[in-house]
Amino acid sequence: MQTIQDRAALRAALDPLRQAGETIALVPTMGALHDGHMALVADARRRADHVVVSIFVNPKQFGPNEDYAAYPRPAAADAAKLTAAGVAFLWMPPVAEMYPEGFATTISVAGLPDRLCGAARPGHFDGVTTVVAKLFNQVQPDLAIFGEKDWQQLAIIRRMATDLDMRLEVAGFPTQREEDGLALSSRNAYLTDEERAAAVALPRALGQAARAMEAGSDVGKALAEIPAALLKAGFASIDYAELVDADTLTPLAALDRPARLLAAARIGKARLIDNLPVVPATR
Ligand code: PAJ
Repeated sequence: MQTIQDRAALRAALDPLRQAGETIALVPTMGALHDGHMALVADARRRADHVVVSIFVNPKQFGPNEDYAAYPRPAAADAAKLTAAGVAFLWMPPVAEMYPEGFATTISVAGLPDRLCGAARPGHFDGVTTVVAKLFNQVQPDLAIFGEKDWQQLAIIRRMATDLDMRLEVAGFPTQREEDGLALSSRNAYLTDEERAAAVALPRALGQAARAMEAGSDVGKALAEIPAALLKAGFASIDYAELVDADTLTPLAALDRPARLLAAARIGKARLIDNLPVVPATR
């Protein structure tokens, strides 16, 4: 695997492949790679001739009181995992290469970022879209793969790529989970053993509410059960638990179209998110 840290070297490595008509898939990450990231990488390998994985802990998407400094950066272990997975290129720019002096542009999707995670993390999604737009321009991939675990992020990136006529496919990949159902996340490392055991309440509460809605329960009533179950399990607070249109993320009061049930809640030092599809019964 070739580890590349400047834009000129990236271009030199990728231009010949593109000119030869070979396809490139990009998997953007912030590192601290776990099996969720590696599932995206495996999918990328199946779907393109060459895979570029980016590792960049993006300062623009962390709020002032968030974990930018503390975010794990196990560079050697990450590189070993990517090498073992057959990745050809690791794109790992330093902050000054991504945001050189004078950098002044923000890519901002309107509407979609305002609610759900965006409400608790102002500016977060502008940071995400700005860096992802740059990664797309730097790598110029045919395909970029994102996890459904970050459903709102995926919806916002799709909107950006469509609106800006970006010539690539933005693909989603299903959430990878621990055996008990907890979604894999770099932030699970912040949990004590006791908090880790309690955290499984998040996927369980979502699963129960999704099944209840699919069986015809009132949406508002099913949603109200989620915070109650999480607080009982030991979560400190709930940022949101909502049923939304799967694409536009507008809140739904009834299950009348393909929907997504999303929640974010805090336990110990971690803020955990998860989401599930909720499918209306066909008549
Ligand atoms: P990061 O949190 O490192 O996640 C990188 C990619 O892995 C994202 O597309 C995320 O949705 C996916 N992912 C994380 N956990 C997953 C899981 N359990 N199952 C499946 N996919 C999972 O998301 C980001 O980085 C950043 O915002 C980024 C897009 C790289 C921009 O900086």
